[in-house]
Amino acid sequence: MPDFRITLSQNEMIQSWYNVAADLPQPLAPPLNPADGKPLGPEALAPIFPMALIEQEMSAERWIDIPDPVNEALKLWRPTPLHRAVNLEKALGTPARIYYKNESVSPAGSHKPNTSMAQAYYNKEAGITRIATETGAGQWGSALALACHRFGLECTVYMVRVSFEQKPMRKNLMHIWNAEVYSSPTDRTQAGRAFNERYPGTTGSLGMAISEAVEDAATHDDTNYSLGSVLNHVMLHQTVIGQEAKKQFEVAGDFPDILIGCAGGGSNFAGFVFPFVPDKLGGRDIRIIATEPAACPTLTKGPFRYDFGDTGQMTPLLKMHTLGHVFVPPGIHAGGLRYHGMAPLVSHLKDLGLIEATSLHQIECFEAGTLFAQTEGIIPAPETTHAVRAAIIEALKCKESGQEKCIAFNFSGHGHLDLSSYEKFHENKLEDYAYPEEMITEALKEVPEVG
Ligand SMILES: Cc1ncc(COP(=O)(O)O)c(C=O)c1O
Repeated sequence: MPDFRITLSQNEMIQSWYNVAADLPQPLAPPLNPADGKPLGPEALAPIFPMALIEQEMSAERWIDIPDPVNEALKLWRPTPLHRAVNLEKALGTPARIYYKNESVSPAGSHKPNTSMAQAYYNKEAGITRIATETGAGQWGSALALACHRFGLECTVYMVRVSFEQKPMRKNLMHIWNAEVYSSPTDRTQAGRAFNERYPGTTGSLGMAISEAVEDAATHDDTNYSLGSVLNHVMLHQTVIGQEAKKQFEVAGDFPDILIGCAGGGSNFAGFVFPFVPDKLGGRDIRIIATEPAACPTLTKGPFRYDFGDTGQMTPLLKMHTLGHVFVPPGIHAGGLRYHGMAPLVSHLKDLGLIEATSLHQIECFEAGTLFAQTEGIIPAPETTHAVRAAIIEALKCKESGQEKCIAFNFSGHGHLDLSSYEKFHENKLEDYAYPEEMITEALKEVPEVG
């Protein structure tokens, strides 16, 4: 029997990030200045990002070296294992081979520290002393808190209100790493006060929390802003995942026919699948599937057009699949998937037909997450259950057709701090939300007419 758990040694740490933009048949649409509709220059981003990250954001280089201090930090948990899910395969009775790349082994419990370590490092190098950010489920906030603590920076986190209330433990985790955490929308920022007035009693959203964090950074000289997903440099930092996976598949003597990742802003999906895009462009038959919540179906239902990255219209315009920057998704438990937009790179790949997308309801995902925990032992984060469910759907198709496909998904995080959501599922207290068509139609009316 082959190994179930394929590991790499720390001598095999990935040395360069992979930039998929260098290999695309058509270039990515540039970010635009909302004031005049013209492409943005690097200087426009300088008030809130260090130049090294802005250069990465706009880079056309295929490979970008990972600085030693960043790799030293990543060594706390990398390389991560690739597992063959033999027990899940048996439980499903499928001839498919199912693999998962386990990003839950990071100190914060998800893939997010792959970029938070890099972002904290570059900010520290640029002389910044504090970083402000938003967080949905709290995974990103805790990853940034960890990284800021490691590199000696202060950290302020605007946490979406519904998650702040559903997941109080994540706040505790951020406090251990010395971050300050606020339930967003707050009364600390102009944007937050405006949201509280316009949407009294709102659950909050990532779009709102981003506006608050951007405003905080833009109004303080010593403070920069950091985003845990969506932007090109974040996708770039996450590519260590897929690069390691490729080496591990070589060790296993296997290669995926189907790659799957859940997609909120797109970063764990991108990090896992982008290194396989050259194989696909070179003619290899690989299906690449992004899965998202039916309650927030950005890639499956949102038009591909320029929109703001935040509700308060403080960001540049990004060309992406969007449900409208004022769309507030229903309060599903996968808080990290409640974002109105999608990474421009992931959106562009979808437009080019290189990837496909599917949407799932939360109850079927919690069912899949529970089966995974019972067979493979690890409890998936609610976000990650979307990838688990999608992998199970494909494995069951193989059972019907008898095809022995190799299915690989990214296990983006564990759900140890989401147990109250699992408890609600067990008590039959979770509900599925219908596709919020009317709200989306309304929200799309506020998307600007450009590009
Ligand atoms: C465990 C986990 N998976 C997935 C996501 C979705 O984000 P992204 O699409 O950027 O990977 C999040 C976001 O918070 C998360 O915490």
